[in-house]
Formats: sequence, structure tokens, C-alpha cells
Amino acid sequence: MDYDIKDMALAAKGRLRMEWAERSMPVLKMIKATFAKSKPLRGLRISACLHVTSETANLMEALKLGGADVRLCASNPLSTQDDIPAALVKHHRIPVFAVKGENHKTYYAHILQALDHRPQITMDDGADLVSTTHSKRKTLLPGILGGTEETTTGVIRLKSMARAGVLQYPIVAVNDAQTKHLFDNRYGTGQSTLDGILRATNILLAGLNFVVAGYGMCGKGVAMRARGAGAHVIVTEVDPIRGIEAVMDGFRVMPMAEAAAIGDVFLTVTGDKAVIRREHFLKMKDGAIVANAGHFNVEIDIPALEKLAGAKRRVRDYVDEYTLSRGRRVHLLGEGRLINLAAAEGHPAMVMDMSFANQALSVLYLAGHSSELGKAVYPVPRDIDARIAALKLKSMGASIDKLTAEQKKYLSSWQEGT
Ligand SMILES: NC(=O)c1ccc[n+]([C@@H]2O[C@H](COP(=O)([O-])OP(=O)(O)OC[C@H]3O[C@@H](n4cnc5c(N)ncnc54)[C@H](O)[C@@H]3O)[C@@H](O)[C@H]2O)c1
Repeated sequence: MDYDIKDMALAAKGRLRMEWAERSMPVLKMIKATFAKSKPLRGLRISACLHVTSETANLMEALKLGGADVRLCASNPLSTQDDIPAALVKHHRIPVFAVKGENHKTYYAHILQALDHRPQITMDDGADLVSTTHSKRKTLLPGILGGTEETTTGVIRLKSMARAGVLQYPIVAVNDAQTKHLFDNRYGTGQSTLDGILRATNILLAGLNFVVAGYGMCGKGVAMRARGAGAHVIVTEVDPIRGIEAVMDGFRVMPMAEAAAIGDVFLTVTGDKAVIRREHFLKMKDGAIVANAGHFNVEIDIPALEKLAGAKRRVRDYVDEYTLSRGRRVHLLGEGRLINLAAAEGHPAMVMDMSFANQALSVLYLAGHSSELGKAVYPVPRDIDARIAALKLKSMGASIDKLTAEQKKYLSSWQEGT
């Protein structure tokens, strides 16, 4: 079997961590059980480009139990947990191409190795697999039934491809399912981003000025959790609706040019580029900490920081200290890569359960419906979303009311008023 991983000796640890994650993934576990019985994905070749974590490993196992022939590569050079590829190769016979810290060249070489599988379905997190297929492996395009996309930035890129008439097969935007972005992006990113910052630095958040750039689903989660830890949270935005939402949620809102001078910790999570740049670094206090949780490492203008700095040294794992004018030090975490995956373990399994249930059921949907779909980006079908929410509620021991016949009638009529 072809694969490229760090160290097969890590397989036992990886298997234990997969098991640990599975305990908090009851919905995916139910899907595994039905897939194992009915093999609905029998013979389907799937290439996946995802963060190689213990939760992803459980998704790969579910697809394989469903009969699919799966290959996996990393969707970020720094997010791979090296024990997981070992466990997947050794214990599940799933080829993986991912090594934590791989350079740019190896990252793309691994994507091409995942594509050597001649996939019928692609699974992406950030759209690097799809864009590589469309640029360097065009001969594969006619054989692809469809693909899924896990994150906001990937959905934005794929919609742009569709608008430009370049996209050659249907994509299901898993990110946009309610049971994905309302929970994974908010509660997952909220908690794991702070976890990443704390593991990298061991700072006390209480009393610090914590600047969150971007008040989308991820930014809301990070702001909420940073406030919970006692930080004074400042939000920066470019969208007036999100800006007013942050104000009414009780946060200070101001432009980055103002926040730069007072922030102790800065976190970008916008999906945009150069959100923190030269003019902001010039205003920062000595000791400022800068990190990113957005998909790509372009949110912080690292080349500008490199140019401004007289000296740079690694002072801890995941902490690079840049010395600027007047001896001011700015600390960049995790080379500007998504800090929750670079320095911590990414989202907890409890929340990835819903995201990956959406992935598994969207693959099943694509396998059965691709001929009805065009070269466009589609939402996850509403009934899949609702089914996942119902199963998750049940697994958490919670239940909700049912509409009575009278209520159903009332809610669909206009006659009754004051
Ligand atoms: N770290 C993770 O595990 C993780 C998880 C999910 C999503 N993501 C990524 O995080 C990013 C944000 O995702 P989201 O779902 O919150 O997106 P979103 O679209 O809901 O929110 C992004 C927000 O950033 C704002 N913004 C854009 N440019 C800005 C700027 N220059 N300054 C300030 N604000 C700006 C937008 O107005 C918007 O409100 C994406 O790149 C996404 O792929 C990361």
C-alpha cells in the first residue's frame, strides 16, 4: 500500500485516540453501524483532503465501513496529528499522505498522491484538492461524480469557481449546513482556538485586551469564550450588521488601527487577507501576541512582519518572537496557521460528530443524486440537517416538543389575528 506518514510506531497511540474521539461521536457511530450493514458506498473511490485528526480518522473509518475505497491527505501543513496517519494505515489499511510540518512542496505532492486514486468523490477542507484537480489533474474531471466542502473559505472559493464557469462537478457545501457552522464554527473554534493559544503560550487571559478580527460564526465563538476567561474583548469588523451585533452582544468594536495600540492578544478569523498588516504591527505594544484561526495563513501579513523585524527567534514551540523598532517584541503563534489545529488538537469530537455526520451523509447523497446535479455549489439537503440535529439531541438526552394539529394549522394560516 502506498502512503507517506511520519512514524508507524505511533499507530497504537493513534488507535487509542481514535477510540477516545469515537466515544463523543454518537451520530457518526450510528452512521457507521448502518453503513457497515448496507455498504451503500461499495466500490466508490473517495479522495479526502482534511485536517488529519482523530475525528477525521473516524469519518474515514465510516466511509470504509460503507464500502468506499478511501485515501486521505492533509488540508494544512501544520494540522496533522502524526499518530493518526499511522493508525489509519496500520489498523484500517487506509492510505494516508500527511506529515505534520510538511513543506509547501510536500503538501502539494501529497494532494497529487491522493488524486492518483482517481477519485469519484472528493472531500475538501479549503478547496485545495478541487483547485489542484482543476489545474493539474484535469483528465480526472469527467470521472468525478461530486465533492463536499468542509469550511467557509472553501465554499467561498468554490462559489467563485462556479460563478466563473470553471467548476466542473457538483459540490455539497457541508460548511453551510446548520448542524455544521452553527456549532463547529462557533463552539468548536471558540473553545479550541483558546486551547491553542493557551497551549502555545500558557498566558493568563483574565484582564488582557483580546482583539478578535471578524465576528462571523467563528469570531462569535472565540469572543464569547475569551470573555468567559475574563479577557476584555474587542471586536473588529468590516460588515456593519456584524459590527452592530458585536456591540449589542456587549463587546467594544473599533477599527484595527485603534485596536492595534491597545491589544495584548490578537486573533484573526475572517477568511480575508492582510487583516493585520504593517501599519498595525507598527502600533503594537511590546509583548503583543498575534494568532490566526482562519483557514489560510494570509490573514496576518507575515512577510510585512518579517521585513519590519530586526531579529527573529523561536522562544517556545509555536511562538516566534519578532523584535521591531525600539526593542518592541511581537509574538506570532503557529506561523500564522490555524492555531487551534497547529498548537492544540482542533475541535472536540463532540462537535465534529455533527460536521462529519454531514460529510458522510452528503457523500451518500452525491453517490445517489449526482446525475441530477449541475456544476454548482449545493446546500446539504434540509432533511439531512434536521435528521442530524434530531439524532444529536437524542444522544445528549434532550428532547423537544411536537407541533399539535391545531398549531400546524395556525402556523400555516393567516385568518386568525388579534
Ligand atoms: N480554525 C478552525 O478550525 C476553523 C473552523 C471553521 C472555519 N474556519 C475558517 O475561519 C474563517 C472564518 O469562518 P466563519 O465561518 O466565521 O466565516 P464568516 O463568513 O461567518 O465570518 C467572517 C467575518 O469576518 C469579517 N471580515 C472580513 N474581512 C474582515 C476584515 N478585514 N476585518 C475584520 N473583519 C473582517 C466578515 O465581515 C465576517 O463577518 C474562514 O477562513 C473559515 O474557513 C476555521
